[in-house]
Amino acid sequence: MTTNHIEDIQGLAPVLNALPGESVPYYIAAGEGPRYETAGMMWNVVARSQDTGGLFDAAFIHGGRGTDVPFHSLPAHQRSYYVFEGSAQFWIPGESRVLVPGDSVHVPAGVPVAFRLLGNLTKLFLYSAPGGALDALLDAGEPVEHHVYSLRGDGSKTTRSGLVLPGAISDTDLERVASDDTTWDAHIPAGAEAYFLRHLEGDRRAWPDSINAYSSRGRTTGRRYFSVTTLATKQPYIIRHFHQQHTENFLCLSGRVWLWVNGEELLLTQGDFLHAPAGTVHSFAIASHNAQMLGVLTSDVFEPFFDVTGAETTDPVYTEGLIDPGQVLAGIQANPDLDLVVVGPPPERVRATGI
Ligand SMILES: [Fe+2]
Repeated sequence: MTTNHIEDIQGLAPVLNALPGESVPYYIAAGEGPRYETAGMMWNVVARSQDTGGLFDAAFIHGGRGTDVPFHSLPAHQRSYYVFEGSAQFWIPGESRVLVPGDSVHVPAGVPVAFRLLGNLTKLFLYSAPGGALDALLDAGEPVEHHVYSLRGDGSKTTRSGLVLPGAISDTDLERVASDDTTWDAHIPAGAEAYFLRHLEGDRRAWPDSINAYSSRGRTTGRRYFSVTTLATKQPYIIRHFHQQHTENFLCLSGRVWLWVNGEELLLTQGDFLHAPAGTVHSFAIASHNAQMLGVLTSDVFEPFFDVTGAETTDPVYTEGLIDPGQVLAGIQANPDLDLVVVGPPPERVRATGI
C-alpha cells in the first residue's frame, strides 16, 4: 500500500451503519446492513467484496429450527462458519457435529458442507475469502426491509429456490452421517482440510487477563485469512497503531468493546462489526468483564503477532494476574518485522461516560 493511500485512509471517519462500496473504515451495528432472504433464512450482509478490496465477504445467516441446507461446495472460496447464537448440526464429508455458540467449522474451497439449524433464531456468522462468495446472492434479488427471517414464506423478494448459496455446486448425494459427540475437536489441522473446532480450543496464547484462541490459521486457509477469538476482562486501550499490509475486522461476540478508529470512538456490543482496512489507525479497550470478540485478519501476514506477544497455553480462559502486563510490548519490540506501525500511546477516552 502506498504512503499516499495510507494517509487517505487515516483521514477518514468510519462510515456508520452502511456498506461503503469501497475499502474504507466502516461500522455495522447488529442488524444493520443489507438483508436478503432465501427460503427460510435471512442473510444479513456485513462485508462484500467491494467493501473489502476483494479480500473477503461476511454475513450473519439466521433462521428457524429445522432450516436445512443440503451439501454444497464453493469451488474458489475458503469458508468459516461460527455459531453466534442457537445451535446447528453441520456435516462435512464423512463427519458431523452439533455445534453451539463459539464452535466453528472451517471449509476449504471445493469441500462440501451441509447444515441444519436446531434452535429458533439460530444465527451463524459466515466469513469467506477471497471476496465474491456472496455475489450471486446479492445479484439474485433486492434487499428486504425487515430484520428477521419470514415465517410464512411471503417475505422474500429474492430467490425462493436457493436453499444453498446461489452459485454453489450441489453435492446432495453425499451421505449425512450421525453426529459424533465424543470427539473433542480441540486442534487446528496442519494443512488445508475441513475441520470442526470447539469454543476457545485450538492454538491459545495468553495475554494479560486475556486469552487469544486462533480458530483458523494461514496454513488452513490458503493464506487468505486467520481468525482469533479474544476473551478478556475489562482493560484500557492498547497503543494506537495501524497495519500496512493487512485488514483487521472486529466482531463483538459478547460484552462491550470500545474501538478507537482514526480518532472516532465507537462502542461495540454483541453483533456489532468493524472493518479496519490497512492504514486505519486504531485501538481497542475491553469495557466489560469476560468480553469476547472475534478478529478476522486478512491476509495471514499478521499471524505471528499473537505467537510472539502471547504465552502458549492450553488454558481455555485467562487467570487474572498470571501474565506480566509488559509481555505484549516486549514481544512487539523484539519483533520489528511485524506488520505493525505504532503511532502513539493509548488514546484517551473520547466520551468519558465512565463505562
Ligand atoms: Fe490492529
